[in-house]
Amino acid sequence: MKALVSEASGGPETLVMRDLPVPTAGAGEVLIRVRACGVNYPDALMIEDKYQFRPERPFAPGGEIAGDVLTVGAGVTEFAAGDRVIALVGHGGMAEQVVAKAPKCLKMPAAMPYDEAAALIFTYGTSYHALKQRAALKPGDTLLVLGAAGGVGLAAVELGVAMGARVLAAVSSEEKLALAKAHGATDGVIYPRGPFDKDGAKALADLFKNACGKRGADVVYDAVGGDYAEAALRAIAWEGRFLVVGFPAGIPRIPLNLALLKGCQIVGIFWGSWTERDPVANAENNRELIELYLAGRIKPHVSLRFPLADGGLAIQELPARRALGKVVVTID
Ligand SMILES: NC(=O)c1ccc[n+]([C@@H]2O[C@H](COP(=O)([O-])OP(=O)(O)OC[C@H]3O[C@@H](n4cnc5c(N)ncnc54)[C@H](OP(=O)(O)O)[C@@H]3O)[C@@H](O)[C@H]2O)c1
Repeated sequence: MKALVSEASGGPETLVMRDLPVPTAGAGEVLIRVRACGVNYPDALMIEDKYQFRPERPFAPGGEIAGDVLTVGAGVTEFAAGDRVIALVGHGGMAEQVVAKAPKCLKMPAAMPYDEAAALIFTYGTSYHALKQRAALKPGDTLLVLGAAGGVGLAAVELGVAMGARVLAAVSSEEKLALAKAHGATDGVIYPRGPFDKDGAKALADLFKNACGKRGADVVYDAVGGDYAEAALRAIAWEGRFLVVGFPAGIPRIPLNLALLKGCQIVGIFWGSWTERDPVANAENNRELIELYLAGRIKPHVSLRFPLADGGLAIQELPARRALGKVVVTID
């Protein structure tokens, strides 16, 4: 089978097409014919050995896929050949076939196309866990989303709206703000791309404060990091929740006196680890996400599709800060 693989640490341009042996499904596993593979920021980090997990090389990137079950391994009763499934595989998705653990698979609703299915669970799963379990977002809360037109960011916008919050989108361009508003954000700000000196950082904090109003943001969803994090924390409400989701702009250092002054919580989000620790709650979240999708209240925005051979170009869209919503690799 064909796969796009990383043979040495490097950027997306280092990925190469190879013929690999077809994997077999072991006990508790399913073999899937991949139809679409959603691209996520961790794909860009993993091929450069910058992610929490370092797969053994050669490996294909691609952590979430949608496709058709070909065979099931011993002990698998919940799936059968021909089922259309979403699977979280960690890596290996940019290939014609992949093996997934059965508990990491989810049946696709009949009405869901493969590209949207491959663009759903990683981002919406992260953002739903962050807003529901970690922030306890309530109707009427003000939610400030940084990077609101990116993968997890746009999911947070839609889920925030679905949960009854007033959503403010913070993004780096007019085009990104228009996208976030089209997905339900009430308003937002366009921030500069940095780098920021001391005055720039102060101006950035003022930008967020003006956007959030006197009371501030009850919840800040930060999937950007860098200098944006502290500036946004300065705009949080009394007893607000600051969600630490990701760091494409760099890992920030936060003066902890801000947490004291705001009486706020700085809350870490590690969705992947949580899904392992609380599979029952995760399954319930996934069920609710599918319901929200079927009710038309959330819908992955697939802005670009690439063939397998151009998977490197697909990944490159994310660190280049160009991706709008989701980028997907489709496999005919
Ligand atoms: N904690 C968890 O459990 C969890 C789960 C999934 C993903 N994540 C993390 O969440 C982050 C976002 O992932 P994603 O898949 O949503 O990525 P994405 O689609 O590329 O979105 C990231 C956003 O960050 C902003 N950004 C600011 N500075 C940037 C820079 N130097 N380079 C690239 N983007 C920059 C961009 O928005 P603007 O241009 O508007 O600023 C972009 O839309 C990643 O760090 C990822 O590892 C964490």
